[in-house]
Amino acid sequence: MEENEHAITVENLTKRYKTKRGIFTAVDNINFKIRKGKIYGLIGPNGAGKTTTIKMLVKLVKPTSGKISYCYKELNKILGYVPEKPVLYNEMRPIEYLTYLGKLSGIDKGEATKIAKHYFELFNLKESGNKKLATFSSGMKQKVLIAQALMHNPKLLILDEPTTALDPSGQAQLLEILKYLSTEKNVTILISSHHMEELERIIDYVLIFDKGKIILDSEIEELRKKTAEQLEIETTNPDKVAEIIRKKIKINNIVIIKNKIIVSSNKISDLRKEIVKIVVESGEEVISVHTVKKSLWSIVMEKLEK
Ligand SMILES: Nc1ncnc2c1ncn2[C@@H]1O[C@H](COP(=O)(O)OP(=O)(O)O)[C@@H](O)[C@H]1O
Ligand SMILES: [Mg+2]
Repeated sequence: MEENEHAITVENLTKRYKTKRGIFTAVDNINFKIRKGKIYGLIGPNGAGKTTTIKMLVKLVKPTSGKISYCYKELNKILGYVPEKPVLYNEMRPIEYLTYLGKLSGIDKGEATKIAKHYFELFNLKESGNKKLATFSSGMKQKVLIAQALMHNPKLLILDEPTTALDPSGQAQLLEILKYLSTEKNVTILISSHHMEELERIIDYVLIFDKGKIILDSEIEELRKKTAEQLEIETTNPDKVAEIIRKKIKINNIVIIKNKIIVSSNKISDLRKEIVKIVVESGEEVISVHTVKKSLWSIVMEKLEK
């Protein structure tokens, strides 16, 4: 792929926070590329580093180290951003607010009001456009934020857990709009969530975050096709044993699901002997060891559902 077909390139990106208990690494040396016009799901449990990554992408947080490159010259003109924790002033009337934002982006007032009203109609908020935000439910506020991000026809849209406050019909509606923007308008979209199921219908690529790292970066179709061998170990004290395996074998893919240690790799047959030896030497009791072939998809889903 030509370099300029990538909307964003992230290299060795790290964010460390100083906390009372010392330095905390929220994002740990991650690398990824975002292709133009595609939808990316940033998936992972709470605390995985999704929001910190997004804030670095939109320049609200300064990276400790690493590099983010964009194919766009002026990010502020082409970016639409829906933050995780929105700030909206309760005294505002949303149509006025959206019109104002549209004007800031260089759209004339009449046109801006028209676009604002269009989104209000789309989101079934037509009756509420001139009411104060204080009277809005959290789902309604979420819709205002989404409309805010879409006002100036962004080429790059970044949404941080935008479906959390929405009811199922609002969620479905948002996903439909995103799919339309991607396929018809070639908008590049990054959307974060802690559920894979809710996004899997619309995303083209998935980046799975865990403890500040990206543990999986895949095209969604590839993920569905791929299979990995997996070693399942039942033992006493799985946390301790998993930690020992992690230390002795440099392998990322070790998770604990329902008290079983799961190691997935394409080289399990080579590693099996060594891993079993480590478990035995740990002094913990080995209850069972199985090798199974699973789709990577199901491994990811199990991990995210645990
Ligand atoms: N300003 C901050 N100071 C200290 N720690 C932070 C700060 N912001 C986030 N963190 C920590 O970084 C980790 C990742 O947080 P976050 O990026 O919000 O994860 P996610 O969005 O995946 O839930 C969490 O452990 C969080 O507590
Ligand atoms: Mg978050």
